[in-house]
Amino acid sequence: MRVEIFKDYQELSDAAASAIINQVKLKPNSVLCFASGDTPKLALHKTVERAKKEDINFSRIFFIDLDEWVGIAPDEPGNCGNFFREIFLSPLKISEDQYHLFNGMATDLDQECKEMDEVILKKGGIDLMLVGLGMNGHIGFNEPGTSPELSSFVSLLDEETKSVGQKYFQGEKHLEKGLTLGFKHLMEARKVILMANGKHKSEIVRKALEEGISTTVPATILRKHDNGIVMLDEAAASILTHKEKDL
Ligand code: F6R
Repeated sequence: MRVEIFKDYQELSDAAASAIINQVKLKPNSVLCFASGDTPKLALHKTVERAKKEDINFSRIFFIDLDEWVGIAPDEPGNCGNFFREIFLSPLKISEDQYHLFNGMATDLDQECKEMDEVILKKGGIDLMLVGLGMNGHIGFNEPGTSPELSSFVSLLDEETKSVGQKYFQGEKHLEKGLTLGFKHLMEARKVILMANGKHKSEIVRKALEEGISTTVPATILRKHDNGIVMLDEAAASILTHKEKDL
């Protein structure tokens, strides 16, 4: 896994946007899967800006969201699907048949996961995943202790995720469960970029990159991916012992 360090959040986001743009230029019908949240937000804005400016055709991509909160309606701010519709799918005019989003309001959540797995299989797997890093080392809602063998599943959220997750919502929300792609999908994706920025992520970045590989810090497992890249800003990389290296 390659580690790349950028001066600040702007430069980090430029690099992530370039990776998305290059992927789509290389393979216009790429299957893309992104995390929502604060980390990829600017990269997605930059992707949209560049796609419009450089006239890059996103109409043939297929998009999948990495995860979704259970019980948060699709039109609520903080709903992951809503995040993508607003900042990525609508601005790029990606039509409804070109994406599949988890429905966190579904009555049968296991069926929702099964459908996601079927879509991924039918589309021939994921070309590029862009994921963030939780304060507890989670990726998507793969919380500490989760089996790395899972496909999509209903996750029981960790206490830290329930409290950190409040930042996405306007009022206090009851967060118990999430729908998420599992590590099976992450490891099978043809390319995975893990992004992290800010001093507040430096300790978990250090654990993810320098501690032993185990489900205690789920992101450590990504180090086994053959085509994984970790993109950090200097603040997030500030307490790493070894910088700019292959892990
Ligand atoms: C969100 C997701 C989460 C976040 C992680 C970091 O869709 O998959 O795993 O990527 O919690 O969140 P931010 O980027 O808000 O710090």
